[in-house]
Amino acid sequence: MTETELRVSKIENGTVIDHITGGQALNVLAILGIDGSSGEEVSVGMNVPSDRLGRKDIVKVEGRELNQNEVDVLSLIAPAATINIVREFDVIEKHRVSRPEEVSGVLSCPNANCITTENEPVESRFEVLEEGVRCAYCDTIIREAIAAHISVA
Ligand code: CTP
Ligand code: ZN
Repeated sequence: MTETELRVSKIENGTVIDHITGGQALNVLAILGIDGSSGEEVSVGMNVPSDRLGRKDIVKVEGRELNQNEVDVLSLIAPAATINIVREFDVIEKHRVSRPEEVSGVLSCPNANCITTENEPVESRFEVLEEGVRCAYCDTIIREAIAAHISVA
């Protein structure tokens, strides 16, 4: 049994996001729109020892599967993350996140005049660059602190 398993117990049905870059768990929760207020059953481990990463964060969400937009944005802040789908206590699916060419939704454009931030039904869309992301509508580039631009649903 690993250190993590001692700290955070197994889930029955849902998603385990493992091998999150140490310190990024709260940003992962923000991407998923989880703040505890709707009674979600969630376990979080932060900076727990990991053979592969030295230190890692881990997030376990009961009764929830992630959509592709969420996984895509997650890959930007936690490039080594693994997504484990759990059914009846077994991991039935496991995949590594990969850096997408673009991300839709989840992030919001910092430009107040951007069509995606005005009262238009236009979902945000960013092209993924080597260092950061660029708004597909107004070309504004977010280079640092991508997590600060996660839009809360
Ligand atoms: N897990 C869980 N609840 C379950 C099954 C698994 O919380 N019912 C967690 C495990 O604690 C682990 C992760 O999901 O953190 C992946 O589980 P598993 O594939 O069994 O572990 P490993 O083989 O160690 O995974 P990896 O090779 O990806 O490190
Ligand atoms: Zn924009």
